[in-house]
Amino acid sequence: MRLYRNHLQQKQEEKKKQKRYSAPWVDIDSEDDGRPRKTSVKINGTAINGHHKATSPSHNESGRATSDAPTATSSKHAAIQEQRLNLPITKGKDALIREFRENDVTVLLGETGSGKTTQVPQYLLESNLAGNDTIAVTQPRKVAATSLAARVAAEQGVKIGTLVGYSVRFDERCGSDTRIKYMTDGMIVRELMSDPLLSKYSVVIVDEAHERSLRTDLLISNLKVIQRQRNGNGTGENNYSKAKGKEKEKATNPLKIIIMSATLDAEKFAKFFSGAKVIYVQGRQHPVTIYHSLQSQTDYVDSAMRTFFQIHTDQPPGDVLIFLPGQEDIEGLEKSVELFAKQLPQACMEVLICTMYASQAPGQNAKVFNATPPNTRKCILATNIAETSITIPGVKYVIDTGKCKEKRYLARNTGGGFDTLMTRDITKSSAMQRAGRAGREGAGFCFRLYTEDAFKAMKPSAEPEILRCGLASSLLQLKCIDQDLESLDLMDEPDRDSLISALKTLFLLGAINQKKELTPLGREMAAFPLEPVYSRAVVASKELGCTSEVLIIVSVLSASSKLFTDSSEHRDAISESRRKFRHSSGDHLTILNVYKAYQDITKSESKSGRKAWCKKHFLNERALLEAGEIREQLVGTCQRAGIDPKAEGGEGKEEEVIKSLAHGLVANTAFLQPDGSYKQVMGQSVVKIHPSSTLSERKTPTIMYDELVYTNQIYARGVTSINKGFLAGLGALSQRQA
Ligand code: CDP
Ligand code: MG
Repeated sequence: MRLYRNHLQQKQEEKKKQKRYSAPWVDIDSEDDGRPRKTSVKINGTAINGHHKATSPSHNESGRATSDAPTATSSKHAAIQEQRLNLPITKGKDALIREFRENDVTVLLGETGSGKTTQVPQYLLESNLAGNDTIAVTQPRKVAATSLAARVAAEQGVKIGTLVGYSVRFDERCGSDTRIKYMTDGMIVRELMSDPLLSKYSVVIVDEAHERSLRTDLLISNLKVIQRQRNGNGTGENNYSKAKGKEKEKATNPLKIIIMSATLDAEKFAKFFSGAKVIYVQGRQHPVTIYHSLQSQTDYVDSAMRTFFQIHTDQPPGDVLIFLPGQEDIEGLEKSVELFAKQLPQACMEVLICTMYASQAPGQNAKVFNATPPNTRKCILATNIAETSITIPGVKYVIDTGKCKEKRYLARNTGGGFDTLMTRDITKSSAMQRAGRAGREGAGFCFRLYTEDAFKAMKPSAEPEILRCGLASSLLQLKCIDQDLESLDLMDEPDRDSLISALKTLFLLGAINQKKELTPLGREMAAFPLEPVYSRAVVASKELGCTSEVLIIVSVLSASSKLFTDSSEHRDAISESRRKFRHSSGDHLTILNVYKAYQDITKSESKSGRKAWCKKHFLNERALLEAGEIREQLVGTCQRAGIDPKAEGGEGKEEEVIKSLAHGLVANTAFLQPDGSYKQVMGQSVVKIHPSSTLSERKTPTIMYDELVYTNQIYARGVTSINKGFLAGLGALSQRQA
């Protein structure tokens, strides 16, 4: 690492004569190199109005304030309106409204940043196309839903939760006056259970449809049927012919569907909706010069850092956006960039690091949209959230590691089957999108930390989630509305193995019977916005009288970030500082102890005291705060479901808590083998207890676990020791023989 610092100094001294940087490609300003392996791309669509002009550079449509930016609320609002007017989509506004008026289904394609997500709902509202009903805008990601809602509320000059609101799992800011509702696709699929015709929405905009998330696919499939039902041209032979007569009568308002996507693969959507109208909005994409690395880079975090500093020391102002697979890499790179930025020569611009990833606190996200201060370069570290969902202004340089995290269901080789997040190579389509982020406001540059051959070898686009993810949770929800993954008209049929595995899981949990029919228990479970394994635990806790404890544990486990910060570097210190919370049975009751200790601390300590306490114990306070909010929500669900959320087992009743959890985690159990490893009760995999577990040093005969993580071997994480006899009572052993 020091070497790089020396290298920078050397660079200064040699006044740019020395061009042999450790970064893996030719300098951008290199004139003496005949083969700089570069490709220029200009991504263009077909303009809806055909006479679209590029913006003049004086237009500051990016949202980036200039040094004399107005500060008063009214002038801020005026500035926002000006930005709105300058968006590429604005010129097509009237034509778009006309198309939406004339067509029940529209597929709208347009480059990222052209204004689809923020403007289309406002156009619909302003042109009164939504009547008195609500416009739903769905997003595959929570962060996108909340941050876009905040932006549109600001554009409308209203408080979030009034005219413009959002609804994501465990967090809702909507009121009776909400007319534009940004929501996750998961939330709207959940709403189908209480309102099968989605009657409160007159328009449903399915955004980021190209991502083909599982929930988006389920939504699209349902929308097709619902529209037939509501718009009166149905054949009668659909899932909703079974809908209660009352529901049908109520939902007389017609439904408009708008499918939006940043990529050009509209055909499939249009075809699915029997030849729906496809509209292109021309973006304002400037040329982007792409550089591929000459050799493949194995340590992409380090390469990204070196590339960033090469840009920072050599290139004119402009922010840098670095695409990384996940939070861990983002945090790692953040630390090293911070460290090296401090050592830069005085003459260098300052570095302002911003991060953007799914589980980040909303306050942190807002930072990336703030204006870059003078003499500063923003270094934005983001996951693929910044690929198409969110446009960050000011970016001129993109560094693409070529990696992303992808959820994948490992069904075949494990028997039991589990979802795992794996770091993988991105697709060509992602690579193009990432590069495109550099050309939003002017000519830009994209540095790919992979070779041109590696790019050529990439898959064209990602596989739809339905082909690679666990289906149990969705299947349970569908069963509640009399639907089935097998009979639903889907854009792609789900993977057979995953489907069987999901059915097995639900059967084992008692949510469906042998005829694959929903049981009363299944219906009770589906009321909870939790993974079936955890909703089963909550329902079990009712009988066992320990709902209070179980709610705490499942809330912590459902939070988007992990409670325990884990670092192999500090493993001993971590283990020592957590000793006092440790419960002999394992990780679940340890979580409970931590949560309770934190609750005690909040009674006596200030905010900074709480923060220091968490730091001292290597705990992630954000996870605790989020768990608190989730718990509140679950308390509400329990009350509605007739479960007393306050029922506390208390001391001496720990066994009941473990039993409740085991009702849910019954498929996630394993027996100790003579060699010290564990063999799944219901699968073939050999697993090890993750080193971060409180049980990692113990050889307990039977374990249950929250998840399996797949690295060089399969590790069980979130482990508790359980009684084998109890497991037999749950039917896990008989299933094994079956
Ligand atoms: O959906 P699409 O990618 O077409 O664009 P959009 O999300 O509607 O974004 C339009 C513009 O709003 C972009 O220039 C963004 O930079 C800006 N925007 C913003 O400044 N702050 C936000 N929180 C969201 C969007
Ligand atoms: Mg968008």
